[in-house]
Amino acid sequence: MRLDEIELAGWGERIGETVGTPTVIALQGPLGAGKSVLARAIGRGAGVRETMPSPSYNLLFRYVTDSRTEVVHLDLYRIESSEELWELGWAQIPGEADLVLVEWPERAKGALPVDHWVIELSAPGDQPLLRDVEVRRVGSPSELAAFPMSVSGSRR
Ligand SMILES: Nc1ncnc2c1ncn2[C@@H]1O[C@H](COP(=O)(O)OP(=O)(O)OP(=O)(O)O)[C@@H](O)[C@H]1O
Ligand SMILES: [Mg+2]
Repeated sequence: MRLDEIELAGWGERIGETVGTPTVIALQGPLGAGKSVLARAIGRGAGVRETMPSPSYNLLFRYVTDSRTEVVHLDLYRIESSEELWELGWAQIPGEADLVLVEWPERAKGALPVDHWVIELSAPGDQPLLRDVEVRRVGSPSELAAFPMSVSGSRR
């Protein structure tokens, strides 16, 4: 599907509202693809009330919602070795957090938990305000009720 930013955010909020936990969602796509936009929307849907800054420099932010859902948002772009990943506490994160949102999951190489969702975003060359969205299930992660998605007013 191909979505504008408002549609993508609306879809992300529904994922956050409906996703079973624990779940790891890997957000793929090049710089500026909209991974942080989507991660924020998913977090908001899950009940995160704080603003969610991009974890580009901090690598990791943790949030706890009013209903005690723990959300971890990571950006692994700057990770250069698996040692750095372990220093970040990566080994414990999928076990501790209810919802793990990982930008640049490619940097974690094979270290993602077996069961996760991959959402891949890309900008079609001719339409800079739209994003193509692809969802893949790896292993058997918790159901993503918002997928297959019905986005009101979505484009073909
Ligand atoms: N349809 C769309 N969906 C999402 N973002 C869009 C869309 N159209 C335009 N944008 C813009 O694209 C940018 C996406 O930025 P964002 O920080 O989410 O990217 P990112 O994938 O997280 O990049 P990075 O790899 O640097 O973390 C924002 O400025 C947003 O306003
Ligand atoms: Mg980002």
